[in-house]
Amino acid sequence: MKKLSVEILKVENLEGYYKGSFGLVQAVDGVSFSVNKGEIVGIAGESGCGKSTLAELITGVPKPLLFHGKGQVFVNQSPIYIEMPQYEITKFNRKMIKNKVKKQKEKVRKDILCSEIGYVPQASQNSLNPVLKIKKIIRDVMKQRYPNYKAGMQMNIGGELILSNDHIINHLEKLGLDRSILRKYPHELSGGMKQRTVVGISTLYKPKLLIVDEPTSALDVTTQKILIDTFLDLLNQKITDTILFISHDIPTLAQICTRCIIMYAGKIIEMGTMEEIICEPLHPYTEELIHSIASFNPDGTAETELKAITGNPPNLREPPKGCRFYPRCEKRKDECRENEPPYFYPKGKKNPVACWIYKR
Ligand SMILES: Nc1ncnc2c1ncn2[C@@H]1O[C@H](COP(=O)(O)OP(=O)(O)OP(=O)(O)O)[C@@H](O)[C@H]1O
Ligand SMILES: [Mg+2]
Repeated sequence: MKKLSVEILKVENLEGYYKGSFGLVQAVDGVSFSVNKGEIVGIAGESGCGKSTLAELITGVPKPLLFHGKGQVFVNQSPIYIEMPQYEITKFNRKMIKNKVKKQKEKVRKDILCSEIGYVPQASQNSLNPVLKIKKIIRDVMKQRYPNYKAGMQMNIGGELILSNDHIINHLEKLGLDRSILRKYPHELSGGMKQRTVVGISTLYKPKLLIVDEPTSALDVTTQKILIDTFLDLLNQKITDTILFISHDIPTLAQICTRCIIMYAGKIIEMGTMEEIICEPLHPYTEELIHSIASFNPDGTAETELKAITGNPPNLREPPKGCRFYPRCEKRKDECRENEPPYFYPKGKKNPVACWIYKR
């Protein structure tokens, strides 16, 4: 009998922009995809293509200056962006409406962000408060979710009644961390340990979805491998149901992901299984991305000539009208300049690709 897939994350036509004195940057522009239980899905693309912005938008509590434009995100079927009734704003009710919106956001933050989504932001291993011991950092995180939390308190997390201290120690041990780290300051931990601590804190509530943004980028190859195994363990031990793994490094994604999404200038341009993306890339940009990976023969010589993608991605303050890859594309046609490509499903493929060359 065919196993039914359970959709943990669904992103529908999501748009997000930064707004400030610098103007407006449309960093995520009409992104849609879904992730099922048990999957590890990679998000790849050049620096500045919107990977971290997409992660922030999925959490529902984007950082300052980043705003949700359109679209919706569902985590375990719950919408992240609550649609407020259309109020007529007057000077008398403005404060009341502001408070209502604030309360709704707070509710999402507590109900969904803390318990359904675990988020490890880019470079978060460096943002552990340097003047607090790990124990205190964890206590502060627990307090955000449960304001009355005190160390040693009995709590109900993920349906289990547990002693919180034991739970924390047990959880950290599952991530390969000794209980002694609780008494240490962040600067006393190695880069890999700090990263595992951050992952441990983000998965304390057994989130259905874990989003990790460039978790291995600052680590050496051995430590990278240990961390990748840790993520696989988290899934096997059912601490999380699915992982969204963001990295600009395709070889890293190939070690852990089943599927991969390729972004370019705020949009998804192609998605497929990891094997399809590496062995049969369809979009000219994905092709170039794959060709820019260094691979070596056993004798140390380069297997293929290393090719960098020429030119730069477009400025997202004024994105070009047609295909955003047009100025850099070696396979461009005239129609690409003026018309934005829709998604095509090339013959024999299940996955979409946004490129005019697949128009039938
Ligand atoms: N705080 C901000 N204010 C204004 N623009 C921003 C801000 N943060 C990011 N951007 C812009 O949004 C776009 C997407 O940036 P984002 O950080 O999401 O890219 P990324 O794919 O994660 O890059 P990287 O691989 O370098 O981490 C870029 O054009 C970037 O310059
Ligand atoms: Mg980023």
